[in-house]
Amino acid sequence: MADSVLFAPFNVGNLSLRNRIVVAPMCQYSAEAGNMTDWHLIHLGQLALSGAALLTIEATAVLPEGRISYGDVGLWNDENEAAIARTLQAIRRWSDMPVAIQLAHAGRKASTELPWNGGAQIPPEHENGWRTEAPSALPYAVGEEPPRALDQRGLARVRHAFAAAAERAGRLGIDAVQIHAAHGYLLHEFLSPLSNRRDDDYGGSLENRMRFPLEVYDAVRASFPAERPVTVRVSGTDWVEGGWTIEETVAFAKALETRGAAAIHVSSGGLDPRQAIPVGPGYQVPLARAVKQAVGIPVIAVGLITDYDQAEAIVATGDADLIALARGILYDPRWPWHAAAHLGAKVVAPKQYLRSQPHQHRDLFQN
Ligand SMILES: Cc1cc2nc3c(=O)[nH]c(=O)nc-3n(C[C@H](O)[C@H](O)[C@H](O)COP(=O)(O)O)c2cc1C
Repeated sequence: MADSVLFAPFNVGNLSLRNRIVVAPMCQYSAEAGNMTDWHLIHLGQLALSGAALLTIEATAVLPEGRISYGDVGLWNDENEAAIARTLQAIRRWSDMPVAIQLAHAGRKASTELPWNGGAQIPPEHENGWRTEAPSALPYAVGEEPPRALDQRGLARVRHAFAAAAERAGRLGIDAVQIHAAHGYLLHEFLSPLSNRRDDDYGGSLENRMRFPLEVYDAVRASFPAERPVTVRVSGTDWVEGGWTIEETVAFAKALETRGAAAIHVSSGGLDPRQAIPVGPGYQVPLARAVKQAVGIPVIAVGLITDYDQAEAIVATGDADLIALARGILYDPRWPWHAAAHLGAKVVAPKQYLRSQPHQHRDLFQN
């Protein structure tokens, strides 16, 4: 069997990765006042033993009002920083997997109930709710409380909050920052003409719609140690007529590359409830491929990548450099072990578990 590409090492900027498997950011809605709890240690801890190359901490709000829900992790104050430090200290004692953090602001999609309680918007006057902010005063769904349009001072506050959170992430020793510019949250809301109806320098033309997300990128890049990568997660399309397109995504990715972004992670959708997503295995891979063909920096594909040969093919054909897993690795936290066994490759396992190596896969663990 030819050597597996999925298990070939790879570099994102200066960050060395053991293979091409990334654990995607996944909100756990289990924080208190933005502080990680023991749940995060259990959840991230198990994924840090999975044999993937990189663990991404969930969408982490840079301001309290930038949380999707009252249970989101945040990084806007010292207490939040200390809670992440505690979690990381425990994980690092037992795993050498690099850790990235996704920095986020939920914009008009903030202030919602936890998904398992229905996920509906919580109006500002209710407990656990607040007034949301966005590029324009347009709600996400009909009947929702509209957001307040950010003015110049508001933009400066958000930019500064992203930079301050990046500085805290640097101090925490986090290996990479991913800026969340996908899924209909604040930065994506600036990019899409459906949610951005501004008539100032931040709305209208593509150049204007990209301005704020690029300013945030620059602020984060300047505040995070220069030798560590900053990546960006984008939605490759809104899947809605008249919305953000793959052509615009490519232009945005090129602008980010010029500014030193280390990788582009290509997801899709989330901006508009009218979206018509052709969901199926690897449904977002064509979007990753389009970005990959236009930039020289690494590209990460995500979305219903569940099969080992499918994952191998995505990186072997060059559609993307890395693949990310979300639901699949929650369902099977040893997915990378099973993929390595299937592909005849090797994977790192904790020494406490070395005796679990099946006898038909005698060379699976590379420790
Ligand atoms: C429980 C859960 C939480 C998620 N939270 C985030 C998040 O914090 N940030 C983000 O960009 N995407 C989030 N996503 C989206 C995933 O990162 C991923 O893009 C999506 O689930 C598609 O990949 P999959 O088919 O491997 O699940 C979440 C998905 C799930 C299932």
